Amino acid sequence: MGRLIAFLAPFAIGGVFVLALLVGAFMPRDAVTPDPTIALHKEAKEVSFKSDGVFGTFDKAQLQRGFKVYQEVCAACHSLHQVAFRDLAALGFTPAEIKAIAKKNDQPTIDEKTGDAATRPGLPSDKFYGPYANEVAARAANNNALPPDLSLMTKAREHGNRYVYSLLTGYANAPAGWAVPQGLHYNPYFKSINIAMPAPLTSEGQVEYTDGTKPTVDQMAKDVSAFLIWTAEPKLVERHRTGFGAVIFLLIMTGLGYLSYRRVWAEIKYKTKKGEVASA
Ligand code: HEC
Repeated sequence: MGRLIAFLAPFAIGGVFVLALLVGAFMPRDAVTPDPTIALHKEAKEVSFKSDGVFGTFDKAQLQRGFKVYQEVCAACHSLHQVAFRDLAALGFTPAEIKAIAKKNDQPTIDEKTGDAATRPGLPSDKFYGPYANEVAARAANNNALPPDLSLMTKAREHGNRYVYSLLTGYANAPAGWAVPQGLHYNPYFKSINIAMPAPLTSEGQVEYTDGTKPTVDQMAKDVSAFLIWTAEPKLVERHRTGFGAVIFLLIMTGLGYLSYRRVWAEIKYKTKKGEVASA
């Protein structure tokens, strides 16, 4: 009897392990820990920009409008640390306008006499400094969330161009049964659904446009997204142009290569046909 138990015990223990493995392998994972954010999360909306595609370019008027939206709305919380004021020349701003824009953006410095922290008016070579001295101050003002730098945002998220637009226009009422903690807001385009940023664009005409475009919430969201596509990739048009030129160049070279191949082999082919050269 004892021998029988000793013989069967390893099989019994092994069986338990195999059973545990099978249960682990075939149990649907979502059934164990359902993640409600997956069901609510929405993919970025279908919206197109002039900069899309291989021939995409920037619409300067739109970039200027988007810049205005950034300045008057987003800059209250977000920085653009990778963009210098003089870069705005690409949007069609004159040096005098750039100087005036820079001047309004206070830059941190140190008082030479006292050594204390101080600020000075910006210069065209400075970058867009955010409204907060550091991360601690930024979090303190935003319910402990950090407004990220927006310079590269359209590159940092999947379908970045469309994502920023979707996020800005995606605020909605939470469905029944979904809890939105105090200080957060329901937005199904945000990865974790509840976002600390209150809807920044809420009413038509929030930003005054000077080029006759109607400043609807949708338009402002589109324009500021276009502007953030530019901040993330200011050389996009040049890249498209160079790429197109390179493809044309390679096509021409392929054609020339083929013609010279024909020419180089023409004589040998002729001779082979006449039997002067033994064919392989
Ligand atoms: C009142 C302050 C405030 C304003 C104004 C504001 N934001 Fe935000 N924004 C935040 C905060 C805070 C977060 C971080 C949210 C979080 O992590 O929950 C954020 C996050 C974001 C994100 C990142 C979302 C992600 O996927 O991580 C984008 C994009 C963004 N804001 C764009 C904008 C744009 C564009 C504007 C102007 C139209 C704007 N914000 C205006 C406070 C603000």
